[in-house]
Amino acid sequence: MGSAAAARVRASLGTMLAAEFSEVAPHGITDRRSGRKQVQRDPAVLPALAIYDPEVTLDLPAGQTAGTAMNALAHGVEAGYARDASPLVAPVALEAIHRIMRSLPACLSNGHDLEAREDLLTGAHLAGFSIANARMALHHGLCHVLGGRSGAAHGTLNAVLLPHVMRFNSAFLPSGISAEGVAALVATLPLPARLRDAGVPAGLLPVVASEAAASPTAGANPRPASEAEILDLLRAAW
Ligand SMILES: [Fe+2]
Repeated sequence: MGSAAAARVRASLGTMLAAEFSEVAPHGITDRRSGRKQVQRDPAVLPALAIYDPEVTLDLPAGQTAGTAMNALAHGVEAGYARDASPLVAPVALEAIHRIMRSLPACLSNGHDLEAREDLLTGAHLAGFSIANARMALHHGLCHVLGGRSGAAHGTLNAVLLPHVMRFNSAFLPSGISAEGVAALVATLPLPARLRDAGVPAGLLPVVASEAAASPTAGANPRPASEAEILDLLRAAW
């Protein structure tokens, strides 16, 4: 880290200390033998300090930039309509959504755009704070079952499914945020466009719908989702 970067780290130390709770909580664990991915929240795994340094992300390849940003965007979206969250969460989630949606295209057109990288990381931090203080809903429930069962990357599944889940939950989105806006962004990303392109076999969809419908995340969704509705959603994304 150069002296300029070190100065930036010192200047934003307060922010970084606040970041510690969002950086690793909640975290996912995949049991490859059973094909199950679980989300856990445990203060014991939190780092004492998390440093968000945009300079170390400048050479992150476009696919990983897009996938990780879409995961962060999904955290903001799900925290924004979480039913049991503190009133602190929704405005922070909305700020995260705005920052990620405006900065991701700039990061993809020029990976060395430091301002855009910093904006994206700040958005990701705010999204992490949001979801650390809210329950995950249907979107993450689907991504976790699909990821555990198919091995597809979490960020790719987030990108493919987020517009579909947002359409399903459209009555609960923050004002000014639309599924079609996210779908338009997703269409520009260097990621698989559909579940079939991400290596998810069609035969997996019924078992994913069944598992997701029984999971606590479906129960936490702002709009109740039946197994049949979840299967329709998955087929639309396939
Ligand atoms: Fe996630």
